[in-house]
Amino acid sequence: MKIGVKLTLWLVLPLAALAVVIGYMYQQRSAELLREELSKEGRAIALVVQVAAEDYLRDRQLADLKLLVDRITGYERVLGMRLFDKDGTLTYQSATLESFPFAHRSELRGVLADRAPREVHSAVGNQPTIGFIFPLLDNRRRLIGAAQVLQLESYMQEDSRATTRFILTLILAMVATTVAIVLLVTRFSIARPIKALVRSFREVGARGAPTRVPVRGSDELGRLAREFNGMCERLEAARRSLEGEQERRQEAEQRLRNADRLASLGRLAAGLAHEIGTPLNVISGRTDALLRDFAGHEVVEKRLRIISTQIDRIVRIVRDMLDFARMKPPRRSPIRPDAALRTVLDLLELQLQERQVKLVYTSQPDLPVLMADEGQLQQVFLNLALNALDAMEEGGTLRVTAREALAVDPRQPGTPQPCVIVAFEDTGAGIRPEDRDHVFDPFFTTKPTGKGSGLGLAVSYGIIEEHGGWFDLVSHRAQGTQVTVYLPIGAESGEAGAPPVHEVA
Ligand SMILES: Nc1ncnc2c1ncn2[C@@H]1O[C@H](COP(=O)(O)OP(=O)(O)O)[C@@H](O)[C@H]1O
Ligand SMILES: [Mg+2]
Repeated sequence: MKIGVKLTLWLVLPLAALAVVIGYMYQQRSAELLREELSKEGRAIALVVQVAAEDYLRDRQLADLKLLVDRITGYERVLGMRLFDKDGTLTYQSATLESFPFAHRSELRGVLADRAPREVHSAVGNQPTIGFIFPLLDNRRRLIGAAQVLQLESYMQEDSRATTRFILTLILAMVATTVAIVLLVTRFSIARPIKALVRSFREVGARGAPTRVPVRGSDELGRLAREFNGMCERLEAARRSLEGEQERRQEAEQRLRNADRLASLGRLAAGLAHEIGTPLNVISGRTDALLRDFAGHEVVEKRLRIISTQIDRIVRIVRDMLDFARMKPPRRSPIRPDAALRTVLDLLELQLQERQVKLVYTSQPDLPVLMADEGQLQQVFLNLALNALDAMEEGGTLRVTAREALAVDPRQPGTPQPCVIVAFEDTGAGIRPEDRDHVFDPFFTTKPTGKGSGLGLAVSYGIIEEHGGWFDLVSHRAQGTQVTVYLPIGAESGEAGAPPVHEVA
């Protein structure tokens, strides 16, 4: 049942019941008053008639008495009149009463006996009447007869009916007004706002997104809307924190897997490098000896030099592998990061020229001193710069920036910490989306055999992680790549973290 209907019923039913009770009481009371009034009126008429009748009888003017009876019949509510002698015999009656026999013998006898008037209610024909029977006395107070005056009560019933009609109309009007008011009020101040709320609730439920329902007014419905919004916000916050938690857990698992893989790969690489190193030294030594032996022998010398170059390449790969495998803790000392960067970029001057790559280097002048392993940091910067150069076969611009700023460690989201941030931004080929997740993997390379070992980023990653820092990588296909190194100032060590990889293009 709707609230409006319920409220209406709750209000109208007791109200109507109350009105009926009050109406009934009022009607009873007015009937009583009317009856009293009628009876008074009847007694007054009877008294007048008694006085006149006694006068006429004294003067034996019987004809006048009969005239009085006839004239009083039909006056106002008087139905008629009867005259009796002192023995109770009917001597005269109004023509209106002729067809109705006198029915109150015992009352008449009583009146004749004690000379006291009587009031009798009865029906004459089908008309309710009130009758007065009273004695007629001479001037010496001797009984000479009795008279009956009959008054119609129907007028009283009509009045009572009118009262009932009036009361019923009043009750109906009251009920109708109440119903109308309650329905209107509930519709505008309850039903409509509730409907709007329900609509909003439904939308929230359907979208499952953090939606707010409009808050109108400060009544209970407004409070309900506010509470609902609060609940939505709390739900949303809970959902976000759950998602964040899940993300962090996945990242931690990923880091663990990476660390595991790196560790076993490191052991493998170390073993391999060691195994290859010894025979490689022998081959290298023998090749040098042969070169000396065949000095001047052009063809052999040329072939031997090819072998020597290839051996050098193998040596370089083995050295990289060893670097990666060793992953020794940094030997920290206070260093100026911009100076380390400058040294690396100076080293690359020739290659930059050869590749027609323009270098734009900007460094904040007052970069703080870092507690870091300078050699290791230089190695990282060199790897990043070389990768950028490799990506720009047809020239381009290499933008290197160093600055200090607050940054949030993506592995442990929380308060931002002051960092030295070094970014290498190239206008090269970019990284294919399917490669992005693998560029930090050891031995992952997209370069032709012999050119890349796939260890540059893996080694750099290990070094930065040892310094408590992290990487950020943004790459746009065919537009370029930006690799950023974050080095927390004052960090003593850090834990491994998978670098976040963004795809923007
Ligand atoms: N600046 C860059 N632009 C495009 N690709 C890059 C860049 N830096 C790294 N890469 C990709 O990441 C791979 C791994 O890099 P790295 O670990 O340094 O190994 P390598 O340079 O020996 O291939 C590269 O082969 C290349 O595909
Ligand atoms: Mg490289």
